[in-house]
This record gives sequence, structure tokens and C-alpha cells, in this order.
Amino acid sequence: FLPLQNIYFFLIILCLSVSGVLNSPTNVQLMSTNMDLVLKWDPPAGAPRDLVYTTELILRNSPMDSKPGCVNTSALQCELTHLVVSIYGRYTGRVKAQLGAQSSAWASSDDFLLDKQTSIGPPNVSLYSNGAKLEVSITDPVFVHSTLRDIYYYATYNITYWKKDRMKELKHINGLQQNRVVLHSLDPSTEYCVQVQIIASTAQKPSTPSIVHCARTPSGNHLIKLWNRSFKET
Ligand SMILES: *[C@@H]1O[C@H](CO)[C@@H](O)[C@H](O)[C@H]1NC(C)=O
Ligand SMILES: *[C@@H]1O[C@H](CO)[C@@H](O)[C@H](O)[C@H]1NC(C)=O
Ligand SMILES: *[C@@H]1O[C@H](CO)[C@@H](O)[C@H](O)[C@H]1NC(C)=O
Ligand SMILES: *[C@@H]1O[C@H](CO)[C@@H](O)[C@H](O)[C@H]1NC(C)=O
Repeated sequence: FLPLQNIYFFLIILCLSVSGVLNSPTNVQLMSTNMDLVLKWDPPAGAPRDLVYTTELILRNSPMDSKPGCVNTSALQCELTHLVVSIYGRYTGRVKAQLGAQSSAWASSDDFLLDKQTSIGPPNVSLYSNGAKLEVSITDPVFVHSTLRDIYYYATYNITYWKKDRMKELKHINGLQQNRVVLHSLDPSTEYCVQVQIIASTAQKPSTPSIVHCARTPSGNHLIKLWNRSFKET
């Protein structure tokens, strides 16, 4: 039994925990909606309160390029949209924790393909009762960089519609290229609801579905004949 050895051992542990290496942030992710770009992370386990963070955005295409993002921020996210140089770029975000003069190692996000992985927001939909028909009009979400039509060479709409009181009987118009369509074969004096999603060629996911819009068809003592010819916006 050597008390001195125990004391040395205790001192070594103490030194390590005081001047110990600062752990890196965890769960580092790039996120994007409509082509914006935000880096998010979680604090390292057991992090002291007054940690600050510094970030960088790295374009991994050739030539590689790295740009400073937020410096000494106490937030757990950093807006990087203004650093996007290529819409079709492959990006990595990285973040390090800092406490006074101490600094953690960088922690990096997975690679992020901006145009393919951005979440496309919902289209803006209007539903009109126009004479004896219901007409759906759609506009694309506004992108921070470029436009949806410029980024995806092919984008179509999937429209789902149903009688408001019969939610299980869904009807579909898929692959619509025009941004207006007239719904056909509807019953008079009936409330119908529509929801629209954008399917973009090279995007990994369809858009967020639009808000559900409902409108009532006009009453008719004769059978209302609705036609389904869609037409291009002028
Ligand atoms: C960030 O914090 C470090 C450490 O406290 C300091 O040396 C540096 O000047 C700060 N940078 C800015 C831009 O505030
Ligand atoms: C959605 O479309 C309606 C009708 O065209 C328009 O009044 C409204 O401003 C649009 N909203 C957005 C967010 O674009
Ligand atoms: C859109 O319509 C196409 C064609 O019918 C279909 O393959 C696809 O699954 C639909 N997408 C969504 C998200 O409903
Ligand atoms: C539109 O109506 C025509 C004739 O009534 C029909 O042949 C066609 O399949 C309809 N199109 C759709 C998308 O329902």
C-alpha cells in the first residue's frame, strides 16, 4: 500500500479533467429548405454553459473552397445561405466548440448535395369556384437561390382531391405540367378539397404538400357538365 502513488494518480486525473480536451459538438447537420443552408449541432456531452462555436462551410467540388461562417456564436445553429457559391455544390459544414483559449476538434456534417437534398416547400394553391367548375391554380415556392424551374429541368404537380365528407375516396391528377387545372365530374352543391405536391426531377423527395383548400361547387338543378381541359397560364 503506497499512499504517495495514490496521490500522484489522483493528481493526474485532476489535471486531465481541468485542462482536459474540449469535446467536439455532436449531431452536426446541414439542413435546407428552398435552397437556403443552415448548420445545426448539439453541444458536446457535459458542456459548460459558456461554450461558443465557430463554423465553416466547405465546398467539396473541385476546386475545394472553405469559407468562415459564424464566429464565437453561442447559438446551436448558423445560417450559411450567403456562402453558397454553387447551386449544384456538394457541401460539408463543420463546427468547433471554444471555451476561452481552448478549442475542440472540428466536427463535420455528412456531405450535402444542395439541389438534390433541399426540402422543397409547399406550393401555393388557390381553389376557385368559377361558374360551374372548380379551378385549381398553383404557384411554386420562392427559392432563396435561383428558381425551382431553373434548378429542376422537369417538375410536375400531383393533385389529390376529395369530397370533404368522404376523405377516404381520393382522386388524383398526377404528373400535371400546367399550373392550372379544372376539376371535372364533380357533384353540384358539394364541398371538395384539394392538396398539391410538387414532384421535381432530381430532388430526393417531393415537396411538402400544400395546405388543404376546400370550395363548394355551385348548386345546379341540371347536371353540371365540367370539362377537364387544363390550360396554360397566359
Ligand atoms: C473569438 O473568441 C476567441 C477566444 O475567446 C478570441 O480570441 C477571438 O478574438 C474571438 N473572435 C471574434 C471574431 O470575436
Ligand atoms: C398565393 O396565391 C394567392 C392567389 O394567387 C396570392 O394572393 C398569395 O399572395 C400567394 N401567397 C404566397 C405566399 O405566394
Ligand atoms: C405522383 O404521381 C406519380 C405518378 O402517378 C406517382 O408515381 C408518385 O408516387 C406520386 N407522388 C406522390 C408524392 O404522391
Ligand atoms: C378528360 O376527358 C377526356 C374525355 O372526356 C378523357 O378521355 C380523359 O381521360 C380525361 N382526362 C383526365 C386527366 O381525366
